[in-house]
Amino acid sequence: PRRDVTVVAIDGPAGSGKSSVATQVARRLGFGYLDTGAAYRALAWHALDHGIDTSDSTAVLDVSGDFDYTISLDPDDNRVRVGDVDVTAAIREPRVTDAVSGIARVPAVRQTLTALFRSLVSESDRPGVVVEGRDITTVVAPDAPVRILLTADPAVRAARRSSELVDQDASVVAAALHRRDASDSSVVDFLTAAPGVTVVDSTDLDFTQTVDAVLDVVRTALSTQ
Ligand code: DC
Repeated sequence: PRRDVTVVAIDGPAGSGKSSVATQVARRLGFGYLDTGAAYRALAWHALDHGIDTSDSTAVLDVSGDFDYTISLDPDDNRVRVGDVDVTAAIREPRVTDAVSGIARVPAVRQTLTALFRSLVSESDRPGVVVEGRDITTVVAPDAPVRILLTADPAVRAARRSSELVDQDASVVAAALHRRDASDSSVVDFLTAAPGVTVVDSTDLDFTQTVDAVLDVVRTALSTQ
């Protein structure tokens, strides 16, 4: 039998600082890091690469059959590949961001990716993995010993996003974020904490404080296990 890998499950909306916080938490714990959103994005890229209409669920499911996805669970290696192609930058392009909600809506696609995530975690050579996404606390790893919902006020999330995107108008960013929240939350509800999930609200916290708050939750949960 495989040795147990401790899962730290973190869900949250776009702009909550989830990815950078989860990466830093993984480094501090010596754990692996899995960005599940990157997999949804890579599958959307793959579908677009095949010229598929990403709102056509049958076609999406069809093309997901030959999805050859490679990601490292090393928090210091964020490269993503589909087949031989390095798609690390391409999966952040707006055309992919726009297509990904359609992909994420297909239940069979979610089941396929969920199985992929579980197998990536179980094959990790580290004592644990920080798994980050939208349905990790509820669907991918509902039995994880640590489950966290990382939130922040929408206005704060929009402000953080627009400071990352140098050329963009804050109101345009806020509107885009609002659209994504609405679209994403119609697929999985990541804005309310499921029973047993600890909320970490980063509205009034800076990056380091948020990392420390998450680490506190992790240490408390693992010490009382
Ligand atoms: O976190 P992100 O922005 O990289 O996520 C990209 C998309 O994938 C987003 O539209 C929500 C979706 N997603 C999902 O449905 N389930 C997950 N576990 C992770 C991401």
